[in-house]
Amino acid sequence: MRNRVCLINVLNEPWICEIQKCTSIVVTVHQVIEVFTKLIENIDKYTKNHSEIVAVVSYIIALRIGLPAKACDFIHLAGHLHDVGKLTLPKKILIKPGPLDKQEWELIKSHPKIGFDLLSPVKLFQGQGGVLEMILYHHERWDGKGYPFGLKGEEIPLGARIISIADAFSAMVCERPYRKPLSFDEALEEIKKGAGTQFDPMLVGIFVNIYEEITNWAMGLVS
Ligand SMILES: [Fe+2]
Ligand SMILES: [Fe+2]
Repeated sequence: MRNRVCLINVLNEPWICEIQKCTSIVVTVHQVIEVFTKLIENIDKYTKNHSEIVAVVSYIIALRIGLPAKACDFIHLAGHLHDVGKLTLPKKILIKPGPLDKQEWELIKSHPKIGFDLLSPVKLFQGQGGVLEMILYHHERWDGKGYPFGLKGEEIPLGARIISIADAFSAMVCERPYRKPLSFDEALEEIKKGAGTQFDPMLVGIFVNIYEEITNWAMGLVS
């Protein structure tokens, strides 16, 4: 593993992906995505590092459940891009300090479909279990109470179930316009509480096992 080049250069062993199995186009796409998400995050301070945290935490979960390197890489890309649909929404709604009204909430709930539509021409992202599916389904819940379709359990693609946990963790530990961040331990407890309702319980078990490594890595990004 030591001599392999890492797609995700923030990570050290043992989370090194097998770059030989990636095409150079995947590596280039990843670099472009990272540059663009950084630009976006410079506009909205509340999203700072969110894309990176979701991408890396999702990637680590995917590796730990033994998914092939290529699948892990695509989960990482989808982690970076999961909220791309929000870019088309009015900023005043995204950073609104108080609760959203019904119409604003409906707009927010449209972002998975908007992101899916925006990126649907990208051939690399198409297909079953691909990046587009993960974007479209990342707000579905294990108990069927999510959106946009109310899919339940394993009807939700595995990659989307992984991103859902990483997204929730990142959202909780990062400051939001309407609330202070939770501590890492508080966020962990919330994730555990969501096992079997919001989240796939098997994946919550994996998250608990890698929690310490994740927090060690993410500490510098949320302070
Ligand atoms: Fe990345
Ligand atoms: Fe989202």
